[in-house]
Amino acid sequence: MNILILGSGGREHTFAWKISQSPLCKKLFVAPGNSGTAEIAQNVNISVTDFEAVKELVVSKAIDMVVVGPEDPLVEGIHDFFLDDEVLKKVPVIGPQKAAAQLEGSKEFAKEFLFRHNIPTAAYQSFNAQNVEEGYHFLETLNAPYVLKADGLAAGKGVVILNDLNEAKAELKRMLVDAKFGKASTKVVIEEFLNGIELSCFVLTDGKHYKILPTAKDYKRIGEGDTGLNTGGMGAVSPVPFADDDFMQKIEERIVKPTVLGLQKDSLPYKGFIFIGLIKVGNDPKVIEYNVRMGDPETEVVLPRLKNDLVELFIALEKQSLNEKEISIDERAATTVMLVSGGYPGAYEKGKVISGLETIEGSIPFHAGAIVKDGQVVTSGGRVMAITSYGDTYQEAIKKSYENIEKLHFDKMNYRKDIGFDL
Ligand code: AMP
Ligand code: GLY
Repeated sequence: MNILILGSGGREHTFAWKISQSPLCKKLFVAPGNSGTAEIAQNVNISVTDFEAVKELVVSKAIDMVVVGPEDPLVEGIHDFFLDDEVLKKVPVIGPQKAAAQLEGSKEFAKEFLFRHNIPTAAYQSFNAQNVEEGYHFLETLNAPYVLKADGLAAGKGVVILNDLNEAKAELKRMLVDAKFGKASTKVVIEEFLNGIELSCFVLTDGKHYKILPTAKDYKRIGEGDTGLNTGGMGAVSPVPFADDDFMQKIEERIVKPTVLGLQKDSLPYKGFIFIGLIKVGNDPKVIEYNVRMGDPETEVVLPRLKNDLVELFIALEKQSLNEKEISIDERAATTVMLVSGGYPGAYEKGKVISGLETIEGSIPFHAGAIVKDGQVVTSGGRVMAITSYGDTYQEAIKKSYENIEKLHFDKMNYRKDIGFDL
């Protein structure tokens, strides 16, 4: 098969790495890709939301399957675009249709889904510019901290958590009245604060059946000890040590099963990954959010532990025969540490030469914001590269990643030295 992966991050390099191992994959394309995918696939420089350009590529390269990395094309309806097109409709797209992608595209839609299907989550109410006064009153009924979420996609920045009531009211006004996040904050969900430790559960579903993939925990803050600004993710660990069998049973019964059944009851077509953001409150899992794709950098630790041929699983999604597959997981732990550009998640410089890659031993460098320029690998984004390692324990794996990072260099390179510190 000829396969096309859409996206350009560490997640997509990991998909390319995994898919290129499948004997079913003949030619692999990544659009737009990065310096890592360039080594194992053919990069094509088109935007993931330019559906006409994607169509042209699929037709000209005789692509047989499209794997969608990021959320934007899914929320904008790329799967429906394929189904509505006479030429493209026979090409399977891995990722949900637009209606189901609202689980990530609208926080209000997700909360309504969770409540409709009795899936444990934080209490909430949603508001718009017309009833902002009611929003202030609702905030007064809650205890600090206050959780405000822009309804739409806001590039991971739409959640604001504040300790002071007046600041929370001012933030609500900024979001609803001053359009802080543009169209994304036309509506705002105000939520009960959940206190606990976070983890993520990854599910593959064909819309009828599901398979649970390894859990992972990511580290979102830029600073050690989980301090400072939020980033896309600074590192990840899989499996999550505190997610024991008993806890996983609760996740499956209370969250995964009703989610997949809910998709069916609500006629939301879904063939792809569901990324369930969870928080462990006491001994119980509650849902913080759904994402309709894999996480980044969680993919960099989840896929390396999956022993199955991923292309075979994707074919089973298309045929809705996922129930016939057995998932096989590597017992070892996997960890990843993200190397970022100095200044990220604020302003940073690009074009820095990355050296030492050829000296890496026993870790896998998944490229993210990195491209080839004049024959050299140079930085092109905030998150530059995820260094993944295996180990019998996550401590061993993390040690390996840090040993290899010592050998890597680019100007103003930064990374967290405490991934896994809280486990
Ligand atoms: P989200 O974009 O929904 O993942 O939210 C970003 C982050 O905000 C999450 O990873 C949590 O750390 C935090 N968060 C979101 N909702 C809640 C909540 N109800 N209680 C506590 N923390 C939350
Ligand atoms: N690492 C979090 C995300 O992919 O949304």
